[in-house]
Amino acid sequence: MSYDNDLFLRAARGENTERPPVWLMRQAGRILPQYRALRAQLSGFKELVSTPDLAAEVTIQPVDELGVDAAIIFSDILVIPEALGLDYTMVEKVGPRFPEVIKSMADVNKLRPAADAPSHLGYVYDALDATKKALNNRVPLIGFAGAPWTIFAYMVEGGGSKTFSKARAMLYKDPALSHALLERIARATAAYLKGKVEHGADLIQLFDSWAGVLPPAHYQEFSLPYLKLIIEELGGKTPVTIFAKDARHALPQIGQLACDVVQLDWIADPVEARKQVQGKVLQGNLDPVQLYAPHNEIISATNAMIKNFGGKHIVNLGHGVYPDTPLEGVRAFVDTVKGYRY
Ligand code: CP3
Repeated sequence: MSYDNDLFLRAARGENTERPPVWLMRQAGRILPQYRALRAQLSGFKELVSTPDLAAEVTIQPVDELGVDAAIIFSDILVIPEALGLDYTMVEKVGPRFPEVIKSMADVNKLRPAADAPSHLGYVYDALDATKKALNNRVPLIGFAGAPWTIFAYMVEGGGSKTFSKARAMLYKDPALSHALLERIARATAAYLKGKVEHGADLIQLFDSWAGVLPPAHYQEFSLPYLKLIIEELGGKTPVTIFAKDARHALPQIGQLACDVVQLDWIADPVEARKQVQGKVLQGNLDPVQLYAPHNEIISATNAMIKNFGGKHIVNLGHGVYPDTPLEGVRAFVDTVKGYRY
């Protein structure tokens, strides 16, 4: 596959590029007026996720509006629990809620087999097909999934949480159940992601958004092996990005995984991280809140960040862009990267 702009994939493969590529986590979303207008006409977030032509439309909005170097398919990490048979609702201004949670091995055994997950996710594959067609090879398309630990956290906790204490308690109370559930999620995710690649995803990013609530030993035992399983199942043909938010202690182990790119949160020091994950491309990591600053400060912070990373770098924020970020601040960030030359 050749693209009008393949900078993102060249950088992800570790090639030296004329400038770093740029995209933003959560670029398809409420920062864009076009997104808010479309979203206001719908019953809710899930209607958007499950309607392929609409999902394709919002996937492409940031490419048109901001000129980013990659698109990321509009979807959510929570499609996996749903495909396994655990439904959720997206409560306006609150977030995801699972009416039923996993409490026992019987609950795990009631879930659908991992191998069946893709057959319940046809709407995502249709969204990828529609997106590829409409993108018409302008830029590469990123596919993604939640890391098994982060999906486990929602399935056991039942929703978002500051501490995820119910999910974490499960790791102490019932490690066997925990491993059984994590493996089910990991195998379903691997099968799902293989389908995403077949439907045109050029790179896969795994979001371990709740990596930071685990103590290091639990991260080693309950998260890393399942990231490894997914990467191995993907077979090395498609580049993979790992984002273990707030788990900077794990960077040396993440550096040992067969991934290509490591996303950094905004607390991470790129120079230190580089030493810990030698040979990987780094992605990140401007503080999302920096984009609320005056434009001259956004420009100087972005230029300083690129210098500090020193190449082998894909520019992004240190987490998803906040929905109320001024669009002009986002534009100043993207335009600064696009004007940069090594
Ligand atoms: O542009 C992109 O990055 C692609 C789309 C994308 C969404 N969710 C759309 C979305 C991606 C990559 C995700 C991943 C995701 N979803 C993560 C991992 C990344 C991270 O932020 O750490 C997590 C933890 C979720 C779970 C989730 N989805 C939550 C907690 C919420 C509610 C919070 C919120 O922002 O409202 C969602 C909903 C969601 N997913 C929205 C979007 C655009 C907001 C939906 C809306 O009301 O329009």
